[in-house]
Amino acid sequence: MDIYAENILEHYRNPQNFGKIAKPDISFRDTNPLCGDEIEIQILLNGDRIKDIKFDGKGCAISQAAASMLTEMVKGKSLRDVLGIEKKNILEELGVQLSAVRLKCALLAYKALKAGVCTHLHVEMREE
Ligand code: FES
Repeated sequence: MDIYAENILEHYRNPQNFGKIAKPDISFRDTNPLCGDEIEIQILLNGDRIKDIKFDGKGCAISQAAASMLTEMVKGKSLRDVLGIEKKNILEELGVQLSAVRLKCALLAYKALKAGVCTHLHVEMREE
């Protein structure tokens, strides 16, 4: 198995930031329409920075690993920094070639995070 696939499995087995925040400032749930899997992203803010972030829900190894990696990536960042994250950043982090179906898995948490932050900031969501 290559190192990237191992990294995905490691995040799947030991997800970072899995769970709930008692009183989140931002909470957004999104669903993968192809399989019905769901992810909810919750954020606790300190000013405009992400003090804590958690994800909850169910999904395949790729969606769970991507959520785990993404939450690690953005913890401590400002909401404006989050707006600057692009799909390709998540895919680089995962490091594997994905089919169109699997892309939806990989980007489920990203979409929930972006939508939650955009809603909070009252800005239009742009998926790049
Ligand atoms: Fe449902 Fe991947 S199969 S999110």
